[in-house]
Amino acid sequence: MLHRPVSSTFLPIAGNSTRTLADLRREIVGIDTKVPLLDGTERLYVFLDNAASTPSFRPVLRCIEEFLPWYSGVHRGTGFKSLLATEVFDAAHDVVGAFVGADPETHTVIFMKNTTDCVNKLANRAGLHPDDVVITTLMEHHSNDLPWRKHCRVIHLEVVEEGRLDLGQLRRLLVEHTGRVKFVAITGASNISGVCAPVHDIARWTHEAGARIFVDAAQLAPHRRVDMLPDDDPGHLDFVALSAHKMYAPFGTGALIGPKEFFEDGEPDAVGGGVVEIVTLDHVEWNHPPYKEEAGTPNVIGGVALAAAIGILQAVGMDTIAAHETALLEYAYAKLKRLRGVELYGPTAHFEDKIGVIPFNIEGKHHALVAAILGIEGGIGVRNGCFCAHPFVKHLLGVTPEEDDRFTREVLEGNKTNMPGMVRASLGCYSDESDIDALVEMLERILRGETRGTYRQDKASGAFLADGYHPDFSRFFRYSVARASGDRRHSEAS
Ligand code: ALA
Repeated sequence: MLHRPVSSTFLPIAGNSTRTLADLRREIVGIDTKVPLLDGTERLYVFLDNAASTPSFRPVLRCIEEFLPWYSGVHRGTGFKSLLATEVFDAAHDVVGAFVGADPETHTVIFMKNTTDCVNKLANRAGLHPDDVVITTLMEHHSNDLPWRKHCRVIHLEVVEEGRLDLGQLRRLLVEHTGRVKFVAITGASNISGVCAPVHDIARWTHEAGARIFVDAAQLAPHRRVDMLPDDDPGHLDFVALSAHKMYAPFGTGALIGPKEFFEDGEPDAVGGGVVEIVTLDHVEWNHPPYKEEAGTPNVIGGVALAAAIGILQAVGMDTIAAHETALLEYAYAKLKRLRGVELYGPTAHFEDKIGVIPFNIEGKHHALVAAILGIEGGIGVRNGCFCAHPFVKHLLGVTPEEDDRFTREVLEGNKTNMPGMVRASLGCYSDESDIDALVEMLERILRGETRGTYRQDKASGAFLADGYHPDFSRFFRYSVARASGDRRHSEAS
């Protein structure tokens, strides 16, 4: 398959007029949904779990609806719809590359399921040997830690005050392991503390040591401008990955962006249809990236949705989004710091290098209980626990090795009731002061002991359930599931 020319002007957002922050909030699918509370009333849902996954932009949905009549498999068919879908899908790759400042001449954009999938691919394709070294950090999501552990020695850079990285230690490690360090794999922004890493400084030091840098931009890309910089800039980023479901296009796509020559080399990790030029019974000629790396029929809708979401973020402006979020963090922390009994983790001031993630606990209350009350009595969606970054959360909480051993034993015995954790409220570009006010109001109620429910904790999951709260989900989303007799429903606590 031939490389197609880069189209830098394609913007698949027909009819979109989203230009301002106010437009963004109006254009969130589900911004006006009401949810049931324990007291029998309903209230507008307060969505403060954007670090996990964001709702969709409405223009993304419109774009998909407009595209669906033209939907067809790509890169294979000869019909008009297949040609059109191929053109649009390939252009979506270009839109993603341009969004992160990738050079279209030297870089390829590979669509995967999500960032986790991207890191696994990169680690699988890196040709690592067991005695190679990958330096990652204590603040990583498991996705940017476990895939590397499968292949080589992983060293975790420590964190210092407020969960910031120990950059002095990084420079020492790079010198100590020069020649063996193949990658520095680092998150652009923590999904727990929100702290952003100085990725271009780290890239310079990494390149001086002869290694490559990978930036997990799953959390960074929805909040800040990402710029890979030109290849001849010592601070350029070699590889970047992001997830559409955190960028207002939750339709199952992620993207890995990196040098074409890296992926030209060697065999793809997943093989099958679409990855080859020609196959004989004893020979395979691989296609060029990205085709070589996207085995099977790709998620065309997901790719188009991601490009549409990017068009909207760019129309509003990533710098505008960042400034809005910084102001909202100032507003939130000014209120939260006044609440006696609320323990805050990570930076609580100077938010230039922190995205909109607010981790906290209420003294004397289990994190899972607080999260349950926020949801069941406040209609507020947050997340609690260790957020797929167990070592970092336990570090921030000061969990000792002995306690860690005990928690591990308990979990292995099927008991998660004592698992340490935090509550996390996380902002999207459409969040506003009313979301923060709702959170603070509920936290004040919890602190005053003015909650209504009787809660019990499920041993296996560690989650809290309120007596008498059994919403009929099919009243909100009409569905039915026919189950064969004897097929047991999931217990609500599982
Ligand atoms: N990585 C997502 C989170 O932090 C799922 O919640």
